[in-house]
Amino acid sequence: MTLEEAYKQSIKQLKNPEVDEISVRILLCHNNGIKSMSGFYIHKHENVRDFEGFSRDFSRFLAGEPVQYILGETEFMGHDFYVDNRVLIPRQETEEVVAQAYIRALQVFGDKVLNVADICCGSGVMGISLAKKLKVRYLFMSDISGDAVEVAKKNCVRNDVIANFFVGNACDELVKAGAKVDLLVANPPYILKKEDVDESVLKYEPHLALFADENLKVYEDIFKKLPLIKNKEMLCVFEIGYDIKDKLIELIHKTLKNVQYVFRKDINGKERILILRIR
Ligand SMILES: C[S@@+](CC[C@H](N)C(=O)[O-])C[C@H]1O[C@@H](n2cnc3c(N)ncnc32)[C@H](O)[C@@H]1O
Repeated sequence: MTLEEAYKQSIKQLKNPEVDEISVRILLCHNNGIKSMSGFYIHKHENVRDFEGFSRDFSRFLAGEPVQYILGETEFMGHDFYVDNRVLIPRQETEEVVAQAYIRALQVFGDKVLNVADICCGSGVMGISLAKKLKVRYLFMSDISGDAVEVAKKNCVRNDVIANFFVGNACDELVKAGAKVDLLVANPPYILKKEDVDESVLKYEPHLALFADENLKVYEDIFKKLPLIKNKEMLCVFEIGYDIKDKLIELIHKTLKNVQYVFRKDINGKERILILRIR
């Protein structure tokens, strides 16, 4: 069967073909080792190389599993990352956070060599992408999930980046190790209500990566320890939930001194990025 025939046959089975047809093309391209999506149209008359493999993948997709987990890979800031159900699938909005962190870091530190920390690192996409763009002396990556840290390690190898890894709450292990940080990025779990989450996300992605308690303890734990890991001056860039700004302002006032903060809007006009400067 050709790629085109398999595509036509498969999209008939989709509930939402307009949205999901792209995933069928992605699965078929992956199966035939086609790197770019436009390649599908160039190669559409070729036979599907491993039809059984494609059928298995497509059944998983029909059951609701995200295509990134099925393929075991995703792209973030132009780099390839391994992902499986031990880590959150990196989101596009997180690319905006990393871009902000990069721009701000250049403004604050110029071309200085930096110590960078990625707290709640999951697959490691934020820290690794920054290490590919900035001059980095040490990259510290930490997560409460040992499983997630294993994935981050794998992604460092894949992307030729060297890091120091820690398993533990917030930045606690960096404090113990005496790490000194110039730039810290973090995307802690921040969803407060299960209703805000799609069924497939709830079913397949790690809940530890998604949900925060209503006091946002993970942010509080991170904020409290920031003065203990800061180099001379520290820039921190957080991804935040659209509905937690007021709570975060309270927490900043409760836990930090000598701090300036600003919230930035994302591409959809929502305040989803928090930037702290601590002196
Ligand atoms: C939203 S995911 C972010 C993953 C990755 N940075 C990204 O942007 O794709 C949040 C991560 O925080 C970790 N986490 C949850 N609670 C934590 C805590 N108290 N301390 C450290 N990490 C925590 C989860 O295991 C998960 O990997």
